[in-house]
Amino acid sequence: MEFLDYDIVILGSGLAGMRAALQAARASDGKARIALISKLHAMRSHSVSAEGGISGVLYPGEHGDSEDLHGYDTAKGGDFLGDQDAIEMLVKHAPEEIKLFDHLGVPWNRDKDGKIVLRAFGGMSIPRTAFAEDKTGFFMLSALYDNLIEFDNIKIFHEHMATSLILDSHRFVGMTALDMASGEMKAFVGKTGIIATGGFARTFGFTTTAYSSTGDGAALAYNAGLPLKDLEFIQFHPTGLIPSGILITEAARGEGAYLINSKGERFMERYAKNKMELAPRDIVSRAIVTEIEEGRGLSEKRFGDMNFVHLDMRHLGESKLSERLPMVREIALKMIGVDAATEPLPVAPVAHFTMGGIHTNINGNVMFNDKSATTGLWAVGECASVNVHGANRLGSNSLSQCVIWGKMAGNAALQSIRDLGLTTELSPKLKKRIDAEEGKLHKLLESDGKENPYDIRKALWRTMDLKAGPYRNVKSLKQAKTEIAKLRKQFNDIHIDDKSMVYNVNLRDSIEIMNMLDLAAVVVAGALARKESRGAHARRDFTKRDDKSWMKHTIARRQADGKIKLSYTPVKITKWKPEERKY
Ligand code: FUM
Repeated sequence: MEFLDYDIVILGSGLAGMRAALQAARASDGKARIALISKLHAMRSHSVSAEGGISGVLYPGEHGDSEDLHGYDTAKGGDFLGDQDAIEMLVKHAPEEIKLFDHLGVPWNRDKDGKIVLRAFGGMSIPRTAFAEDKTGFFMLSALYDNLIEFDNIKIFHEHMATSLILDSHRFVGMTALDMASGEMKAFVGKTGIIATGGFARTFGFTTTAYSSTGDGAALAYNAGLPLKDLEFIQFHPTGLIPSGILITEAARGEGAYLINSKGERFMERYAKNKMELAPRDIVSRAIVTEIEEGRGLSEKRFGDMNFVHLDMRHLGESKLSERLPMVREIALKMIGVDAATEPLPVAPVAHFTMGGIHTNINGNVMFNDKSATTGLWAVGECASVNVHGANRLGSNSLSQCVIWGKMAGNAALQSIRDLGLTTELSPKLKKRIDAEEGKLHKLLESDGKENPYDIRKALWRTMDLKAGPYRNVKSLKQAKTEIAKLRKQFNDIHIDDKSMVYNVNLRDSIEIMNMLDLAAVVVAGALARKESRGAHARRDFTKRDDKSWMKHTIARRQADGKIKLSYTPVKITKWKPEERKY
């Protein structure tokens, strides 16, 4: 195995990972040696497909907006499971990040006077989402990439699949990864590490997320003995295009699109009279499911066998669609031959975002146990649970979270190298442990069992779609638990047909499937234990939020025997008192 030595090893090259790299490079005057590792070409990271925008109070006072109001909206949108000290941090730093990306080259939509325009998003009291058409993630990621390739001290390792996270007790040591192009294993030994691998909504079959959103970083952390937090909270976005699940941005509703059932009714009137289509996503998604279940959905042969409702944006007109939502129109035309300017789009709730992730403190430092953090390791972006989003993220808060905590981790990594005098020296014992990772990978490659890993993946998707969706109950979750345990057992008897080491997608997919199985089991364990309905976790057998018993975060750890151990930690309330959510 080749051993490479860095000051900062960043796993994941989406907005959070690239923002961390840029910050560390700038703050060290181009001196810190940084490895940026991606299992894809870095520019194919899933952040590239973020559409609607990034939240932040750019014009305090205008229309009564303030950081306090943004914080309140976020806490309430998250059904009061968000840690409010972290929410305060989010709302304070979001505007400066939007301005920074202006300087990095993002072409924000502007009005005729050159002022950055803000659009409405679900659960926000007033428009506070900056955007670049409906391709915000693409423009933000491109801007970061263009700026960070100027630095000689950042080495990007495209197409390297991480296979392990190495800790020495409570200290980060490094990661191992498979170079897809050469088939070589590499050990990235780091003074510090930052995990930024994104979410794991690909554990569901019907999802807006890329095939790559398999939660690798969270699974590596979990299997290295680190705690995960609040995995049961899965966000279902109301408007996935039928039948693929491709995202039709919430910005469409922000710009004025309606949701219509088979009777032609704007049914949100019954569920969220004041906010209508711009209620938080969990509420809108459940409304759509209810409409469909009660027989007011639609179906059409040309779109397959799924039921849906209509997203109608015909009244917005061609020029608004071209100026604000060109990609939505293009996606619908290309995918299903429907022109949003003349026909409503068929949409249904779709797995979109994972509120939970690697358990961190407010600075993004990965927790080692209940009280102390791991030395030299941060987790940022969707793979982390810091926890600003609570039980339900508001749209456009994720991009702010990615870049704010990405920057913070870049700074903190540099600082801790200086303060703690961290080195990359390895004891012979540690080196041996890292070397052993190569043997583990070869053992997996040799798998010659009777189970097809892709059948296991299909079965996992089906189980999660049907049993752990927008509505859950004890029966569906118990079935999911049994099925996932069965699939995990079957995984130990898979066959990997491609035995070569060069660009072995079969091997990479198998690692991803194993990661997804581990995370799905934690999602279901947390959901089964949480006997209440809060935000995106809606149980038909416990329909009410129960602050007395359940206003707490779920912490999950892997035990030596592979079983999941759950414990709980309190929510931090600073200034926004929990109240009933009404919209
Ligand atoms: O609908 C959207 O554009 C998604 C945005 C988000 O998840 O923040």
